[in-house]
Amino acid sequence: MTLKALPKIDYAAHPLYGGMFEPNPVLGAQMQAALAPLIERTAKDEHARVERFGYRYGCCDALTRELAEQGSATRQLPAAAIDAIHAAARSRLELLQGQLRAAAAAGERSKKKTAWKVVDIGCELWTTVDQALRDMGLFEATATVFGAPAAKLRSMNVLVNYPDPDWITRLFRDVEVGAPPTGGLHFDPDHRCSTKMVLYLNDVGPEQGPFSIVPGSHRWDERSQDRIYRSAFDRLGTVVRSAKWRKRFLSLPAEMQTKAEFGSDMIPGSPEAEALLEAEQVMTGPRGQLNMFNPDAIHRGANVTVGERHAMLIYIDPAWPAN
Ligand SMILES: [Fe+2]
Repeated sequence: MTLKALPKIDYAAHPLYGGMFEPNPVLGAQMQAALAPLIERTAKDEHARVERFGYRYGCCDALTRELAEQGSATRQLPAAAIDAIHAAARSRLELLQGQLRAAAAAGERSKKKTAWKVVDIGCELWTTVDQALRDMGLFEATATVFGAPAAKLRSMNVLVNYPDPDWITRLFRDVEVGAPPTGGLHFDPDHRCSTKMVLYLNDVGPEQGPFSIVPGSHRWDERSQDRIYRSAFDRLGTVVRSAKWRKRFLSLPAEMQTKAEFGSDMIPGSPEAEALLEAEQVMTGPRGQLNMFNPDAIHRGANVTVGERHAMLIYIDPAWPAN
């Protein structure tokens, strides 16, 4: 089976949704009311994107062709560039490591599996990254892909990830069910054009939580109402799978039972789950590997099981003249 569309999950038949709960019309009406403004906001964001970009992906060389067609590309930073970035990021990495060690020593669970720190605009790390990306032509590449006159850095974060023993069982807290092999696969629900990047600051093998992507999936169900529903649900901030929220979700009309973060609900071994895993590209790689992607594509970061992962998450946005 080759997937060409976002996987649809039959929640009525899902053992942890329809298999456990009955839809409730009152809850369904409450959920629809909560989602209505988010659907409207997402549709507006999507409309603005269509007006400016119109899904006219552009390309002029190998990099932009990969970004336009695959929705992803990987490049290695020159040694001098990654050394300069690493030196500028070091104090933040040490701070995050210290915080994680202190939390672990106190027996605290971090709510997220990621510890991250926002990088302030204009600081040394910001300008060092900006220069490295400029030297690699990534601003021009982003402008070309989205048909914009220019592009610029939007934001960046420094991340440190440690192994999280809860990761396998934390999804459905009321039942003893582990995360499926597709757990965490999602697209970003913000409906804006950007090139998102995961820059490895240490070597990342299969056990250090590699980033992964499903090539070409940024165009699956492009401009669809389904993508809007999915994003609206995730924007509600309820990508939790407690019994309460699963029941509410199941009470929505069938066409609205859809999520941007859908991988954790896929049935292990189902043809769509198998096809998605088959298509997934796992981006293990050395320190200095820059994984670029379109956040409309299906992607995830794996759990760290051994050692730790140090990385930066960086966004370049196309820049259009103000209306
Ligand atoms: Fe994401």
